Amino acid sequence: MRRKLVAGNWKMHGGLARNRELLDSLVQAIGKGGSADCAVCVPFPYLAQTQELLKGTAIAWGAQTLSEHGQGAYTGEVSAAMLTDFGCRYVLVGHSERRSLYGESNEAVAAKLLAAVQGGLTPVLCLGETLEQREGGITEKIIAAQLDAVTAAGMNGLAKAVIAYEPVWAIGTGRTATPQQAQDVHAFIRTRLAGSDAALAQRMQILYGGSVKPQNAAELFGMTDIDGGLIGGASLVAQDFLAICTAAAG
Ligand code: PGA
Repeated sequence: MRRKLVAGNWKMHGGLARNRELLDSLVQAIGKGGSADCAVCVPFPYLAQTQELLKGTAIAWGAQTLSEHGQGAYTGEVSAAMLTDFGCRYVLVGHSERRSLYGESNEAVAAKLLAAVQGGLTPVLCLGETLEQREGGITEKIIAAQLDAVTAAGMNGLAKAVIAYEPVWAIGTGRTATPQQAQDVHAFIRTRLAGSDAALAQRMQILYGGSVKPQNAAELFGMTDIDGGLIGGASLVAQDFLAICTAAAG
């Protein structure tokens, strides 16, 4: 039985006062832990605040991207070691917004995943197709290419990763994949992974992301191959995020 994980992706939202309120509410409700794991991925400048407020609780934290380089002349970039300095456990890699807005290729995402693992972080590898790709019938081809770029770099990285399937057409749109649509792609990902490492495929946590809300979380998390969620908009509202964590705890 795989443990469920619910990770919040705050994206470029937040502010010191608002973060404190949100994190305090989370700590009060789930700070002692439960039967599902819970984490928040916050903007870089708020890592220190997040560490201060979540330290010693059962809620983990992380960042939303990282550099593939260890250090050097890379203005504006943040390394894995810098993230672990602030107690991060997780880091998102290859979120569709990074891929589409900042031109991150499958190969760049694979390099970031390795940098994260080498730095002691757990990368959350995001995969997903656009609406055009889904309607063109090439969802599996796109997901396979995204996944294969990472497996080509070696299974050591993936062995320490979590995967998040996030159909681009469901992110921030209010349009969720049906539980069956999500399950089909999750099963595809697990089967493809099994081709390289059957044991890893069995234990891999595969999260679903894309307009997850308290209303649809339980049904999504009830599917065989869905091991939790990556939550955008709803992770900014304490009550909603907590309800989703409760749904994951079953
Ligand atoms: P959403 O975002 O929950 O707001 O759709 C999910 C994500 O982008 O990770």
